[in-house]
Amino acid sequence: MPAAVIIGGQWGDEGKAKIVDFLMSDHDVVVRYQGGANAGHTVVKEGKKFAFHQIPSGLLYPHTTGILGNGMVINPFSFLKELDGVISNGINAQDRLFISSSAQVVMPYHSILDDLKESDRKERKIGSTGKGIGPAYSDKHARSGMRMGDFLLEKEELFSKIAGMVKKANRKMAIYGAPELSPRKIAADFINIRDLIEHFIRDTQMMVADMNSQGKRFILEGAQGTLLDIDHGTYPYVTSSNSTVGGAITGSGIPPSALGRVIGIYKAYVTRVGRGPFPTELEDQFGDKLRERGCEFGTTTGRPRRCGWFDLVAARYAKKINGFSEIALTKLDVLSGIEKLKICHAYEIDGERIDRFPASSAILDKCRPVYTEMPGWEDGELGGNYEELPGNARKYIEKLEDELETRISFISTGPGRRETIIRE
Ligand code: GDP
Ligand code: IMO
Ligand code: MG
Repeated sequence: MPAAVIIGGQWGDEGKAKIVDFLMSDHDVVVRYQGGANAGHTVVKEGKKFAFHQIPSGLLYPHTTGILGNGMVINPFSFLKELDGVISNGINAQDRLFISSSAQVVMPYHSILDDLKESDRKERKIGSTGKGIGPAYSDKHARSGMRMGDFLLEKEELFSKIAGMVKKANRKMAIYGAPELSPRKIAADFINIRDLIEHFIRDTQMMVADMNSQGKRFILEGAQGTLLDIDHGTYPYVTSSNSTVGGAITGSGIPPSALGRVIGIYKAYVTRVGRGPFPTELEDQFGDKLRERGCEFGTTTGRPRRCGWFDLVAARYAKKINGFSEIALTKLDVLSGIEKLKICHAYEIDGERIDRFPASSAILDKCRPVYTEMPGWEDGELGGNYEELPGNARKYIEKLEDELETRISFISTGPGRRETIIRE
């Protein structure tokens, strides 16, 4: 059975977790393949909210196995806190939640360095979540990071490895005039959690290969979104991993030939947290209204999300980069009751019209949106099947579908599982 990949089509928070949870009922294994505690993935089950950060969002069914994949950067202390929350909500994680031995560890100095680097950027801040993601991936690629598998070292060896790493990090932090961390204290903190962490660790790439041969049905859960991808996103206002389809392969160990559905998740409008260009941003009262209606405040940092109209130029680009086989459109309900809707179909720059997403953030920043107007629909409950949706809501969906040349096979009209329309 081919794997289904869930990928954000915008700047994150598209509602990926809701769709992962929805699809998980007939899948067996969920693998988070990149990112770390920068993600905030909310699932609402029977009115109860579950916020996941590092643990995959597909664990709310008893039959599922969850894997924190090799492409992730994992803060083991936050993992244990999140796990406590999961267990106290009555979810059994025993023998069905695993962490890749090849995943990188986010060290305490990574989040400090994240903040120090942000302050140093002065007016060119990225708006990082401060979770140490950039510095952790930097160490991974410099081949000087710690991996989750290192928790399996003998205690003395683990202690001296961590103490040595902290000493080196102190030299990096000194550049910013930051106080030193105690190598012994940090090494001791890691030794203290070693027994709690070690039984989650597996060589998950081989586990994934075995389960794939057994015909298990996989969901590969992306974090962030295409426009935050380190290669394809609005650099430097991006995260430090590949949140696009390539990341699903390298970050899980699944071979490309095992991929089936590549599902792009798009919100019916656009949001962005942190800095960076955003052509359709609404910096007025209407943007505030969208934020209130859509409860657009970050799950991880609580920051207000910037809101704007649907951007087809960016959406087409995301579709091409990932080769989406289908789309899930979320938060359609948030647009109900708005008289006139706008969809950006092109940009204007220096008097010239373009319909291709520019690779340079400096150019994107100068792009002004060119809109098509669409009539809205009345406020109120949205129907349980496609035909029951108001005519103008269907027109809006079909316009996006035509422009993106991709089937919109799921429409989400609320945070709950039942508020999902499947179009066969
Ligand atoms: P993710 O990071 O892509 O998983 O998205 P988040 O969980 O950060 O943000 C999406 C938010 O919208 C969550 O609070 C969801 O519960 C909520 N949500 C998801 N789908 C819908 C929908 O169709 N309508 C509404 N009103 N809320 C939704
Ligand atoms: P989910 O998975 C929205 C943004 C940050 C910042 C930039 C870099 O919930 O969609 P980082 O901490 O990764 O170095 O921050 O990326 N960002 C997100 N925005 N949703 C997310 O995750 C995000 N993860 C990171 O706001 O602009
Ligand atoms: Mg989120």
